[in-house]
Amino acid sequence: MRQEHTQPLEPPSPVEQGDRIQTLGVVAVSLGLVLAVSILDYVTGSEVSVSLLYLIPICYGAWFANRCVGLFVAGISAAAWLGADLLVGHSTLHPLVIFWNTLMIACIFAVIAILLTGLKRAQNKLEATVWQRTVKLREEVSERRLAEEKLRQTNAELQCMQMQLIEAAKMETVGRFAAGVAHEVKNPLMTLSMGTDYFLQRKPSNADEAALLQDMKDSVNRAGNIINLMLDFSKPHPLNLAPEDLNGIVENSLRLIRHLLDKQQIVVVCQLLPDLPKLPLDLTRMEHVLVNLFTNAAQAMPDGGTLTLRTRYMAAQDAPSQVILEVEDTGSGLPAEHQSKVFEPFFTTKPPGQGTGLGLAIVHRIVQIHGGSVTLDNRPEGGARATLKFNL
Ligand SMILES: Nc1ncnc2c1ncn2[C@@H]1O[C@H](COP(=O)(O)OP(=O)(O)OP(=O)(O)O)[C@@H](O)[C@H]1O
Ligand SMILES: [Mg+2]
Repeated sequence: MRQEHTQPLEPPSPVEQGDRIQTLGVVAVSLGLVLAVSILDYVTGSEVSVSLLYLIPICYGAWFANRCVGLFVAGISAAAWLGADLLVGHSTLHPLVIFWNTLMIACIFAVIAILLTGLKRAQNKLEATVWQRTVKLREEVSERRLAEEKLRQTNAELQCMQMQLIEAAKMETVGRFAAGVAHEVKNPLMTLSMGTDYFLQRKPSNADEAALLQDMKDSVNRAGNIINLMLDFSKPHPLNLAPEDLNGIVENSLRLIRHLLDKQQIVVVCQLLPDLPKLPLDLTRMEHVLVNLFTNAAQAMPDGGTLTLRTRYMAAQDAPSQVILEVEDTGSGLPAEHQSKVFEPFFTTKPPGQGTGLGLAIVHRIVQIHGGSVTLDNRPEGGARATLKFNL
């Protein structure tokens, strides 16, 4: 059996349909106008100036529809002109003159219709060109804006890198300076420490002398600790890396300063994500980092508060996944002018003798050599938040 494959007829699109209706409307109006002019032509006799009125429907049809409509209306107008002339009747003229005149009129009408549609096409073309240029210009403007935005971003990144380089150079200088001072002070301190030990062993003659010697011993120990911190900051020992569970380190470090937190009536909230991927960490160093951060948080909440410890895992498609630790407190927060300085060595707001200002500098150094990052910001709800990020 033969099967016929007939292509389904596509219905006209709404735009085409709209165009067609508009053309039909123009044709109807033009024909109406031709009829009106022909009646006027017949009533006024063979008045030439009235014949010129036929140009109105011709121009209207040619301009608002198309060339075919213009020519069609021109033909109808010539026929109407002939009809009116025949009805009026010109006894003095040869009958062929009327037909000759009609032919001439038809040609003139047709030329006008053709010229007008040519003009319309030229105008349309010009409008299309202007539109294309406008679109192109708009594209160029948006491309230029994008390029400017990119340039601004690159500039900001460059500035950020420049700041980091300056910061690194500053740290390097401070580190070298601290190492130099520490080495120079370490030997005299050793002598002082041995001296106080010697006098303490010799049994002081009275209680005042014993108390003074003990104060001296404590001060020398404190100075020794600061020197060790300075040395560790300027030239950290190589890391002893092993795959560690960050949650475990958080819990251990918490145990180390539990007494301080209890003493200050600080509530601890642990939001530790279970099954966190293990990270290559130096256990002792990381405990040092966390104890420093917890101590700072506790010191910022002398009248009690809440210490929140949160671990998170952030998987990203086009960047390395990260393990994040947040240490939040409900303390006083950081004044704006201190925010850029807190990681600088020796920056402290504590009274002399109570803080070295090395805590966060060491935290920064240790996290940095682990390949991570640390920031300290204010929380919108009040208090501060330290954020540690480690790439996997
Ligand atoms: N959680 C926090 N809330 C508010 N301010 C903080 C917080 N942590 C640190 N700071 C500010 O940053 C400063 C520097 O802290 P850093 O730990 O380096 O030194 P420190 O605590 O002053 O001294 P040290 O650590 O030797 O006892 C602090 O003096 C304090 O002003
Ligand atoms: Mg501190």
